[in-house]
Amino acid sequence: MRLFLVLIMTICMITGAAHADPQTDYMLKCMGCHGPDGAEVVGKVPALKDNVARFFSVEGGRAYVVQVPGTRQATLPDKDLAALLNWLGPRFDAAHMPKDFSPYTEAEVRHLRQTRLSDVNAIRASLMAALAEAAED
Ligand code: HEC
Repeated sequence: MRLFLVLIMTICMITGAAHADPQTDYMLKCMGCHGPDGAEVVGKVPALKDNVARFFSVEGGRAYVVQVPGTRQATLPDKDLAALLNWLGPRFDAAHMPKDFSPYTEAEVRHLRQTRLSDVNAIRASLMAALAEAAED
C-alpha cells in the first residue's frame, strides 16, 4: 500500500496537480488510518463504513465530522475538504445519508475548521449517546 501511495504522489507531482479528486484525497490524507474501506481498527480508529453518515442526523454531528482532528488538520484547502466530506458519506455509508442532506460548502468548512475540539472522546461519546437514543424512539 505504501508503494501505491508513493506512486500516486509521484503522479501528482509530475502532472503538477494542485489538488486531486475526493477519492485521491482520501487515499492520500485519510486512508493511512481509516483504510481503503473505512473499516474499524478495533480500539484505535472508528469505522467510517456504515457509520459516518449517521452523524449528519444528530445535532452537532455535522460540525463534529469537520472538527474531528483527522479531518480538521488534513492538509487540504477548505474547498477540497468540503468536496471530500461530501463524497465520504455516500461512499462509505449511503444507507444513513439523510434525504435532505445539504452538501458542505467551502465557507462552512472554513468556519467549522476554526474550532478545535477540546475533548474529542467526550464529544464523540455524547453524539453516540444521542444517536442511540434516537434509534430507540
Ligand atoms: C492519524 C490517523 C487518522 C487520519 C490520518 C485520519 N483520521 Fe479520521 N479518525 C481517526 C481517529 C483515531 C478517529 C476517532 C476520533 C479521534 O480520536 O480523533 C477518527 C474519526 C474520524 C471521523 C469521525 C468518526 C467517528 O465515528 O467518530 C471522521 C468522519 C473521520 N475520522 C474522517 C477522516 C477523514 C475524512 C480523514 C482524511 C482527511 C481522516 N479522518 C484522517 C484517525 C485518523
